[in-house]
Amino acid sequence: MPLLLRCCGFLLLLVCTAGHATNALPVIPLPASVVATEGEFVVQADTPIRVTAGDAAALQAAQYFATLLQRTRGATLAIANTKSPAPAIEFASDATAPAGNEAYALTVTATGIRVRARSTAGLFYGGITLWQLLTADTAQGFPVSLQGVRIEDAPRFAWRGFMLDSARHLQTVDQIKQVLDQMAQHKLNVFHWGLTNDQGWRVEIKRYPKLTQVGACRIPAGAAGRTAQGQPRPYCGFYTQDQVRDIVAYAAVRHITVVPEIEMPGHAQAAIAAYPEFGVTGKAPPVSPDWGVNPYLYNVEDGTFQFLQNVLTEVMALFPGQYIHVGGDEAIKDQWQASESVQAHRRKLGLKDDMALQSWFTARIERFLNQHGRKLIGWDEILEGGLPPQATVMSWRGTKGAVEAAREGHDVVLSPSNLTYFNRMQSDAADEPSSHDYPTPLKAVYDFEPVPPELDAEQSKHVLGAQANLWTEHVRTFDNVQHKTFPRLAALAEGVWTPKAERDFGGFLQRLAPQLHRYRQLGITPADSAFAVKIAAEPLGENRARVTLSNQTAFGDIRYTLDGSDPTPASPRYEAPLELPMPTTLKAASFAGTRPLAIARTRVLDAAGLRTREAEELTPCSNSLVLRLEDDAPFEGPRAVLQVDILDACWIWKNASLDGITAIRATVANLPYNFQLGEAINSVKLRAPATAEGELEVRLDTCAGPRIASLPLAEASKRDTTSTLEGALATSAGAHDLCFYFTGRTPDPLWAIDAVQLLPATATP
Ligand code: ACM
Repeated sequence: MPLLLRCCGFLLLLVCTAGHATNALPVIPLPASVVATEGEFVVQADTPIRVTAGDAAALQAAQYFATLLQRTRGATLAIANTKSPAPAIEFASDATAPAGNEAYALTVTATGIRVRARSTAGLFYGGITLWQLLTADTAQGFPVSLQGVRIEDAPRFAWRGFMLDSARHLQTVDQIKQVLDQMAQHKLNVFHWGLTNDQGWRVEIKRYPKLTQVGACRIPAGAAGRTAQGQPRPYCGFYTQDQVRDIVAYAAVRHITVVPEIEMPGHAQAAIAAYPEFGVTGKAPPVSPDWGVNPYLYNVEDGTFQFLQNVLTEVMALFPGQYIHVGGDEAIKDQWQASESVQAHRRKLGLKDDMALQSWFTARIERFLNQHGRKLIGWDEILEGGLPPQATVMSWRGTKGAVEAAREGHDVVLSPSNLTYFNRMQSDAADEPSSHDYPTPLKAVYDFEPVPPELDAEQSKHVLGAQANLWTEHVRTFDNVQHKTFPRLAALAEGVWTPKAERDFGGFLQRLAPQLHRYRQLGITPADSAFAVKIAAEPLGENRARVTLSNQTAFGDIRYTLDGSDPTPASPRYEAPLELPMPTTLKAASFAGTRPLAIARTRVLDAAGLRTREAEELTPCSNSLVLRLEDDAPFEGPRAVLQVDILDACWIWKNASLDGITAIRATVANLPYNFQLGEAINSVKLRAPATAEGELEVRLDTCAGPRIASLPLAEASKRDTTSTLEGALATSAGAHDLCFYFTGRTPDPLWAIDAVQLLPATATP
């Protein structure tokens, strides 16, 4: 079906190819310039990929393209060194191709397809675009027909990054390679690799073996850190130098530079656990089992700089890229302030405060890196005591750091935590995996604009680009890495590649439908949070419910069934709220035409279900620091995920109907309180318990209202996984807010609600 597509300021008529009926140009990131042309070309199973002998750049791009096509279309096109004029897909290095390090041109005409570029990277990216054009449908094999088109493309930014934290939780070498492949397929080119932190040192340094012998193992907090017999069960791992070289080489073939991050002066607890002489106190802490901001800083002695320089020397030998990331974030100065010798050193240097001391520290490391031909990049805290002369700033606490640094003439990379932190939750659904608090849905990432509006044209030139960051405190598994990263990485990619004027979320969602299929073909399981159907239900008398279906993006068709089967594209389409008899099992899924966008979500509509709330459906009492935490048990297999405010474990059920309710049931779990919060630990709200292990209390109307239930935690305290509590609830009539909180004398353990259910007098368990 013909489709009007707005592109490059023109209205173009694109005729869709056989096999898919509703796609705009199915490419992410959208190319800079797309012009529809006459004619079409049909790629057949015997269409050759033509590369001129000796054109190594073209051969490399053609090989990656052919392999991708094989993996996703299940058929191989042969690469031929032929000058035959027969119809072909041609890859060619060409000095007359569009200018730019990463630019390429791709044309489809009746006589063939040509990918041309001046550079290896340009050819590679042209191959990625062509692969996407040829995988717009879900069919396997050939023929595939492409409408005539002339694409001229180049990225908007030079730094198109993704950061993966391998310190808090490790990924295998193969998993990292999978991430690198996906980055390449999104035309991203900087892999920022978090290799050191308080909770683990993950890169082999030959000169300092204890960094990995000691620093690469921690005993996790809670049940995860001990065996059934009570023995410590360490979490360990690091990347050998051979593995690092392998990853760096793998990335290079995909035109990705790896930027290692070696944190200093803070986030150094694992290193100081291994070599306490480089810390401030001289004592060895454990490798940290806690999340948050730990106090361990390096000291400022010459011997410590020698250590760091020796480490960086090995790091530079492993990572040939220009930039070395030295962290610099969250270096709280308590230990420096408490240390006579650090303060004496500061005074001797004539520095006015500890911010200036960190600045001096970073500048000294910068001089060393510069002497070795490298550039220092650090988090925006490196601005605080004055920036080192050449430093590049990575702005994460919003964009202020970037604005300030660019105004001072420094290069900047944007990764504001509210828009580009993929460790944050992407929907409010109860099935979101463990994550940090702040909602960062797909659209927020898509709408992120890397150039802060405060910068003028000249200052904007310092914006090298942007990146997304995935911190892994609450991302233990690779399934969760995938969920967090995809498809938000596609949204980020368009923000850093496509001209600003061409970006359009609606078009992106349209193009995302085929991309979701490509992910699955390549073994990636993306999040479907943007399209997952939310099933809201309210009672209509005793035996009926009113049901509203929606998804986060309002994109696609919602289809549902009432017979327990999974919805298909032929199932009834949701148009308006449904009034259904109870009990009914409703299943709903989203589709773009015939393509699935989200797997089916199920809700059993019955009286008991309508009297149940998951923690995600309750309102936090104070919303101070809400996290989605994974339970610390069981060791193997899936763990419950608990959404809880770690400063105030308290929830409100708004407007609960209490007519006939006489009891309450709650599923709860206790978690280790392994958070380093500094002063904030004193603001954790504690409520006096009546029994040694505490209770779950329920109060009417407000948290200071009458206590209407008190469920002791004594039995649940003996269990590592979730427990069910049940007890009487003083009767009330009508609708009331209910306040739920746990009592206890200390923040540890942290109790959390998984779900609560109101029980009428007649309810059977
Ligand atoms: C950061 O998120 N601490 C850079």
